[in-house]
Amino acid sequence: MATRIVTLPGDGIGPEILAPAVALLERFVPDVKVEEHVFGGASIDAHGTALTDSTLAACQSADAVLLAAVGGPKWDTTDPDQPRPEQGLLGLRKGLGLYANLRPVRPLPALYDASPLRREIIEGTDLLVVRELTGGIYFGEKSRSATSATDVCTYSVHEIERIARVGFGAARSKVASVDKANVLETSRLWRETVKRVHAEEFPHIELEHVLVDNAAMQLVSAPRRFDVILTENLFGDILSDEAAMLTGSIGMLPSASIGDTDAPGPHPGLFEPVHGSAPDIAGQGIANPLAMFLSVALLLRHGLTLESEALALESAVDKALDQGLRTRDLGGTASTAEATEAVLAALG
Ligand code: IPM
Ligand code: MG
Repeated sequence: MATRIVTLPGDGIGPEILAPAVALLERFVPDVKVEEHVFGGASIDAHGTALTDSTLAACQSADAVLLAAVGGPKWDTTDPDQPRPEQGLLGLRKGLGLYANLRPVRPLPALYDASPLRREIIEGTDLLVVRELTGGIYFGEKSRSATSATDVCTYSVHEIERIARVGFGAARSKVASVDKANVLETSRLWRETVKRVHAEEFPHIELEHVLVDNAAMQLVSAPRRFDVILTENLFGDILSDEAAMLTGSIGMLPSASIGDTDAPGPHPGLFEPVHGSAPDIAGQGIANPLAMFLSVALLLRHGLTLESEALALESAVDKALDQGLRTRDLGGTASTAEATEAVLAALG
């Protein structure tokens, strides 16, 4: 049976970085059948909603989903009754049960000097942010009156246990569990639960608890000390953008969102760059496509268990950068097409 991948170009630079990524995917998976659907702002324009039932159904029955980026000024609104592109993303994560978001951060030696941080600080950094993706304040009850607003943050023991297992399972040596247990009740439950899962199932992994404000500081003062950063939805959102800058540009960071691979039936993962739709540079052909390409590598690895193909693509990106490839966000002049050619050339 052919491998079925649903692609969601979304908005802004989405379509122009997704097209070359699909070409790479086709090269590694010759039997791939790609099915494109409108999503995000484009879907609001076409159907009045960021995620239609038929797009969600297509994603649910695919082998994996490859998403570029959503959003843009055209759909920016603070009116709670208007549709927003981000609702598509949240609906997709929830609808596919993707509770674990993996964001590897490994600055390449070739880019050490592209980071706003000094080389001696970032050298040797190789960390993974494991972010809980379907709970917390993102999905709690919301309310709004003329003079106040509320966002409820809820976590269940079950939600914390399953993400903790992903975090410990991915760790080589240690887990830094990040919370705000000095203030938040959900964080105290988080800390207790992570401690118990650690003691019962992963005693060989080192565990430390770090308050989120302190973690934000250590990420830029001593990033090398982290292996896995395990954290809840909102903290993970913020810390992963911060961590992205260790690599020189947010245009470098891929992500994988996965659900319960033990559950019966299809369990497609979602693979997407961490960056947004960059409306300011959309349509100019200058976007850095590397996070998108690296998301294809994560799709190959986690979505299709094609580890050697994933490694080949990652090494080609490394090699192209080594040979001097720099898009504008990295201080160079390469266009999206030139970046694509450089990676294809490095693949040989
Ligand atoms: C991300 C993004 C999303 C998030 C937005 C677009 C809803 O910032 O994937 O990190 O907050 O999760
Ligand atoms: Mg974010």
